[in-house]
Amino acid sequence: MSQSSTPAANGPRDILITSALPYANGPIHIGHLVEYIQTDIWSRFQKMRGHNCWYVCADDAHGTPIMLKARQEGITPEELIARVAAEHQADFAEFRVGFDNYHSTHSDENRYFATLIYARNRDKGHIAKRTIEQAFDPVEQMFLPDRFIKGECPKCGAADQYGDNCEVCGASYSPAELKNPRSAVSGAVPEQRESDHYFFKLGDFEQMLKTWTRGGSLQREVANKLDEWFDAGLQEWDISRDAPYFGFEIPDHPGKFFYVWLDAPIGYLASFKNLCDSERGKAEGLDFDRFWAPDSDAEVYHFIGKDIIYFHALFFPAMLHGADFRTPSAIFAHGFLTVDGQKMSKSRGTFIKARTYLDHLNPEYLRYYFAAKLGPGVDDIDLSLDDFQARVNADLVGKVVNIASRSAGFVTKRFEGRLSAALPEPALFDAFVAAGESIAGAYEKREFSRAVREIMAFADRANQYIDEKAPWVVAKQEGRDDELQAICTQGLNLFRLLIGWLKPILPGTAEAAEDFLRIPPLTWDTLASPLLDHEIAKFKPLMTRVDPKQIEAVLEASKEDLTAADAKKTRPHETKTEGHLVKDPIADTIDFDAFAKVDLRIARIVEAGPVEGADKLLQLTLDLGGETRNVFAGISKAYDPKDLEGRLTVMVANLAPRKMRFGVSEGMVLAAGPGGKDIFILSPDDGAEPGMKVK
Ligand code: 2FM
Ligand code: ZN
Repeated sequence: MSQSSTPAANGPRDILITSALPYANGPIHIGHLVEYIQTDIWSRFQKMRGHNCWYVCADDAHGTPIMLKARQEGITPEELIARVAAEHQADFAEFRVGFDNYHSTHSDENRYFATLIYARNRDKGHIAKRTIEQAFDPVEQMFLPDRFIKGECPKCGAADQYGDNCEVCGASYSPAELKNPRSAVSGAVPEQRESDHYFFKLGDFEQMLKTWTRGGSLQREVANKLDEWFDAGLQEWDISRDAPYFGFEIPDHPGKFFYVWLDAPIGYLASFKNLCDSERGKAEGLDFDRFWAPDSDAEVYHFIGKDIIYFHALFFPAMLHGADFRTPSAIFAHGFLTVDGQKMSKSRGTFIKARTYLDHLNPEYLRYYFAAKLGPGVDDIDLSLDDFQARVNADLVGKVVNIASRSAGFVTKRFEGRLSAALPEPALFDAFVAAGESIAGAYEKREFSRAVREIMAFADRANQYIDEKAPWVVAKQEGRDDELQAICTQGLNLFRLLIGWLKPILPGTAEAAEDFLRIPPLTWDTLASPLLDHEIAKFKPLMTRVDPKQIEAVLEASKEDLTAADAKKTRPHETKTEGHLVKDPIADTIDFDAFAKVDLRIARIVEAGPVEGADKLLQLTLDLGGETRNVFAGISKAYDPKDLEGRLTVMVANLAPRKMRFGVSEGMVLAAGPGGKDIFILSPDDGAEPGMKVK
């Protein structure tokens, strides 16, 4: 059977919908938007059908990457997540992702439910305690998630690889296998340390999960994947992390925190509870238990990406079941986004942030394009930029909006905006109305590309009608006014059906059309009766064509985002860690060509002295084997200048001279060490000679 029943003829359904919670440490990009747009279309469709549908989401605010990112920015995690939450919500609002509530996993409601779900599972014996050994950063005094350990790949020897897999040869391994491992946080060599951890005994739920999996709650591809996991055996799941950690402390285990992935999906319940308790929720009598009690017949759906199926189809339903909550009606997984057939790429400018897109292009275009590509399965979808432009221009501007613009002018100019009292071709209108159920069926099954195809076929028919009736010819002929008004009335009524059907996809355009037609918000039911003997407003273009320059501008700006960030060194190489995109403190990379340009030379410190008015600086006169350089170096706290004279150091010899308050600095000396007295400078007996190339 399909994942959800078809709309009941017998009354409205109670439906709760969620999208995956975006991490609170990075911007929304077009890859994310596939899911939010998909979910929003479905939610808007259900609402148009008259169902009691609620769409909630939240920021996923916990975990090591968020803690470290805040630290790097010199702010508290709370400040970071507040800032990101505001950015996320502004982006979503402009893309018209119409959440009924947007909350945070760092909230009272989420603490309450995470604790409750944990405690109920613990009391039923589903939590085990074990001591495990884990990599520990002795400098930062913290345990390191696998992705925060870097080293050489044990298989191919590639340098700078993460603790779980090699980006060069693709090998998977455990961090213990990495050669020369280093903490990606401090650069220190990690130690192995023991710590007590708490595990959720997933195996206790095998039968329940098998029944749930095979009960129609999952797409076929997903159910097959789960079968593989069942065959491999369900492993206990480590739900605890040691301090320091940004998250919820486990109440009966001070110093231990819930792993971010424990409380993330519980955030769905928390956001919904927050909605129930809001003014609106109270006014609408929204009842949490109506949706989450074990025997609830309300529908609960989670839209997610295919990379997080394990969490949503195994851990989450098992934890809910163990804590006497209902399990989801279905999980709807989707595929990834590619751009022009390739992974989104920063250097090609196709890693496009929601904000960058919004700076140049109408969000309705992307909503339409994704809808035209989306099906109910987990296939990846491709945003082909040429196709994007062609389709939006041909379908939306050329077909749909065109119908209105071809009809409306005459109605305004010749009939004071008034539509006829009857349709000249009611059968044609009825044929359109009859298609509404098939289109609704496509939406319901998340076959959005089919819905779009069917709607566009009707847009062609509407244009054909207008072509055949040629109102521009009729308008020029005496005595054919009634006919002209009727043709335009027919045209506008067909347009009204099309835009009504497209409303879940194009909420902004539909709203503008409702204003133009002077009608209340369209619902599926009201579509069936034509708009007659009714005054409309003056037509304003509902959508303009995509200009290729706008697409160029988005690509350029996305490349600039990258360059600007590189220059400031604030935007790091991003990496997926615990599923998070995080700043990797070691990997602010330059390419080899850039590195090769750095001319490192041995220099003898001929003279060293203090700089008046600059406590930290020393003025150094360096001998580069014949050539003398003046350099200001910030090492006065570590060295008495007299001790430096005669010693060797490494300098960047080709750094552009920089004018400082005290004079021109003609290079930079390199010194390494933990700081203070321990800055290391080469000594003459290391065998180095001034002017010698270091690399
Ligand atoms: O993968 C991610 O981006 C996660 N932040 C999704 C969490 S979904 C839910 F479990 F909260
Ligand atoms: Zn490798």
